[in-house]
Amino acid sequence: MDKKVTIRTLLRKKQRGEKITMVSTYDYLSARLCDEVGIDAILVGDSLGMVFKGEENTLGVTLDEIIYHTKAVKRGAKRAFVIADMPFGSYQVSLEKALENSFRVIKETNADALKFEGGKEILPIVERLAESGVAVVGHLGFTPQKIQIFGGAKVVGRREEERKRMLGEAKALEEAGAVMLVLEATPTDIAKEITETLNIPVIGIGAGKYTDGQVLVFHDLVGLVEDIKPRFVKRFAEGAKLFKEALERYKSEVESGKFPSEEHCYE
Ligand code: KIV
Repeated sequence: MDKKVTIRTLLRKKQRGEKITMVSTYDYLSARLCDEVGIDAILVGDSLGMVFKGEENTLGVTLDEIIYHTKAVKRGAKRAFVIADMPFGSYQVSLEKALENSFRVIKETNADALKFEGGKEILPIVERLAESGVAVVGHLGFTPQKIQIFGGAKVVGRREEERKRMLGEAKALEEAGAVMLVLEATPTDIAKEITETLNIPVIGIGAGKYTDGQVLVFHDLVGLVEDIKPRFVKRFAEGAKLFKEALERYKSEVESGKFPSEEHCYE
C-alpha cells in the first residue's frame, strides 16, 4: 500500500502543480475502490441526503448519519485522505455546539478533516478548530445548505460583488487556518484567481479546470444517476445501464431455471 495521504501530501501536490483527485462517497466498498485506484481524498459529503437517502436536498442529513457513513468509508480508505462533511444544523447554533459536534465526529470516526460550508460566519469555528489541531476544509460558491436562500442550484461569482466577497472570504478562511477549500458552481475565472491567490489546495466542482483538483460524487461519475445531470458532471461509465443489464439477466435466469446451476449449488 502507498503511504497514507495527509494534508502535507495534498499541499505538496499543489506546490508541484500536480492535480488532486477527490470523490464524494458514503460507503465501505466504493471507498475501497477509490482507494485502490489511488484517489487522493474522499469526502463523506452531505450529498448523501439526495444520493443515498433519496431526499430532495441536504438539509435532513444528521450528525449521526455523517458519523455512520464516515466510519464505513474509513474502513475502506486505508490510504486516501477522508473528510467528513458537517451537516446542516450541526455548527450553526453556537460556537460551543459547533466545537462539541466537531470533536465528536473526529473522536468517533477518526476522519482526517471536517468540511464546513460558508464564509465569514464560520471563521470563529475554523479558528478554534485549527488552534485545537483539527484540519478544516472550507466550501464557498454554491453552498447547498443555503438552498432555501438561493432558491435552487445556482452559479455563484458572476456578479462583481459576489466575486469580491468570495475572494475576501477565501483569503479569510485560509488566514483562519483552513487547510483546503472546495469551490462549487463558480465561474472558471474567479475560481482560477482564488486558486492562484491561496497557498492551500482549492478543489473545484463546476469551478473549471484551473483549480488544484476536482471532486465529483461517485454515483454521478460512474453513471448511476440517470435522471439528473448537472453541467459539471461527466459520466466516466454507464453504471446504471450496466447494473440494469445484470439485474435483467439475473431475473430472467431465475425465472427460466438457468440459475443456480450445478457450480452454484452444494452437494
Ligand atoms: O456533499 C458533497 O458531496 C459535497 C461535494 C459535492 C463538494 O459537498
